[in-house]
Amino acid sequence: MKYNITLVPGDGIGPEIVDAACQVMDKVGEQSGHSFHYTSVLAGGCALDKYGIPLPEDSLKACLDSDSVLLGAVGGPKWETLPGHLRPERALLNIRKEMGLFANLRPAKLMSVLREASPLREDTAKKGFDLLIVRELTGGMYFGKSGRYQSEGGETAFDTEAYSVHEITRIAKVAFETARTRRSQVTSIDKANVLESSRLWRETVHKVAEDYPDVTLKDMLVDNAAMQLVQNPAQFDVIVTSNIFGDILSDEASQLTGSIGLLPSASLGETKRGMYEPIHGSAPDISGQDLANPIATVLSAAMMLRLSFGLSEEADRIENAVDKVLQQGLRTRDIAWGGPYIKGSEMTKALLSAL
Ligand code: IPM
Ligand code: MG
Repeated sequence: MKYNITLVPGDGIGPEIVDAACQVMDKVGEQSGHSFHYTSVLAGGCALDKYGIPLPEDSLKACLDSDSVLLGAVGGPKWETLPGHLRPERALLNIRKEMGLFANLRPAKLMSVLREASPLREDTAKKGFDLLIVRELTGGMYFGKSGRYQSEGGETAFDTEAYSVHEITRIAKVAFETARTRRSQVTSIDKANVLESSRLWRETVHKVAEDYPDVTLKDMLVDNAAMQLVQNPAQFDVIVTSNIFGDILSDEASQLTGSIGLLPSASLGETKRGMYEPIHGSAPDISGQDLANPIATVLSAAMMLRLSFGLSEEADRIENAVDKVLQQGLRTRDIAWGGPYIKGSEMTKALLSAL
């Protein structure tokens, strides 16, 4: 089969890590008789520099016309002072919204070889954890009404958290369906003791749960969840939560694995087509120095093969190659913790030979 993939390398380390993932996909493709055709487009800060807007129409069109999208990272200090609608992050938010990618899957798993890199207490790390955050991605305060006005206190700004039953139902279904393929436990995270939107969230998730009697559902308040993640992450299987809470908790969960440089993500909608990206950012401080860890993006490509193209064997091969190089003791700087490390491109080479 031939698959059309739109690449959005973006800014900072984005181009380096997307290139690494393409090399890995090509090798797997060669081995299995599949071919991947890439169209690379500009979005984020690089598009702002060239066209004055974060997401040119042609770039969005290429994403919509593809079988799936692989994104590196967008943003950087250079564009930080621009107004909201012109920030590189807008590109990412608009692609998610326009492609209808309402479900963001962020797995976080503690690999036994990286246990010592985890900031968890030794006994907690020993127990390990393997959780999946299902983050709502096209609603909530990321897309709610926002603005500024003058009040007695001077200039005032607001963002609105709003969720409909439709939005909550569809993300809850993704969580329950996915839980069935794992350990059949869902923790729904909200702030129902304070927020009305969270109370509707909780009611709706419980309604959806009636169709999944085989899956255990637990509610947890977000502040408690932030604490529980550090205290006892092994208790979680699938976490389902809003856009903003998912954003925050997924960074926390990723750090518990030892490095944000290892974690992939998938964003999906009603169709098979998705967008895949590492959960880390553009890391401008290390860009162009061949220090970036390509693993999160390589694993994102593996998720694409599995979830959008149904190529599970090929995805397994990539994931096994990652395990193998880490078992061999190869480390990029972000997971070396002061010990010896190799360059990003050397990590890519090691992955290619492990395939
Ligand atoms: C993420 C990022 C984005 C988000 C930013 C870059 C807009 O932090 O994917 O988690 O907040 O969704
Ligand atoms: Mg984030």
